[in-house]
Amino acid sequence: AIERTISIIKPDAVAKNVIGQIYARFEAAGLTILGAKMKQLTKADAEGFYAVHSERPFFNDLVSFMTSGPVMIQVLEGEDAIAKNRELMGATNPAEADAGTIRADFAQSIDENAVHGSDSAENAKIEIDFFFGEDEVCPRLR
Ligand code: CMP
Repeated sequence: AIERTISIIKPDAVAKNVIGQIYARFEAAGLTILGAKMKQLTKADAEGFYAVHSERPFFNDLVSFMTSGPVMIQVLEGEDAIAKNRELMGATNPAEADAGTIRADFAQSIDENAVHGSDSAENAKIEIDFFFGEDEVCPRLR
C-alpha cells in the first residue's frame, strides 16, 4: 500500500553535509518527498518527539544529541514507505547495519546514527503530525 513516513536526518549527518546523498537514496528507492523542513530542535521538541523513550536510560543523551545542531525532517511517501525507509536506514546500531545502508555508510554510533524513521503506521502519523501542519505536506503531483 502507499504509505507515508517521517525521516529525520540527524545533526551528525547534517554536519557531514550528506543531506543530498541521503535524499538521492530515498528517490532511487521510489520514495517521494512531500514536505521538508530544516530545524534546530528545542529541548521541548526533542523530549516531545521521543516521549515514548522517556524512561529509557539513553533518553537524556538522545535529547542532548538531537538538539546539538540542526536536523532535516521530511515526509516520505511511496509503496511500503515505512518498511522501505527502514531498509534504507539499516539497523539502529550502525555496527550491525547491513553494508550499503545509510547508517552503515554515514553513522558512527548507536547515539549518532544519522537518521530516524517511523517504525509503524501508527507512529508515522503521530510523528508527521508532530512536525508538520496540514498545509506543510504537499499532495502528490500525479
Ligand atoms: P531512533 O530511531 O531515532 O530512535 C531512538 C534513538 O535512540 C535511536 O534511533 C538511537 O539513536 C538512540 N539510542 C541510543 N541507545 C539506544 C538503544 N540502546 N536502543 C535503541 N535506541 C537507542
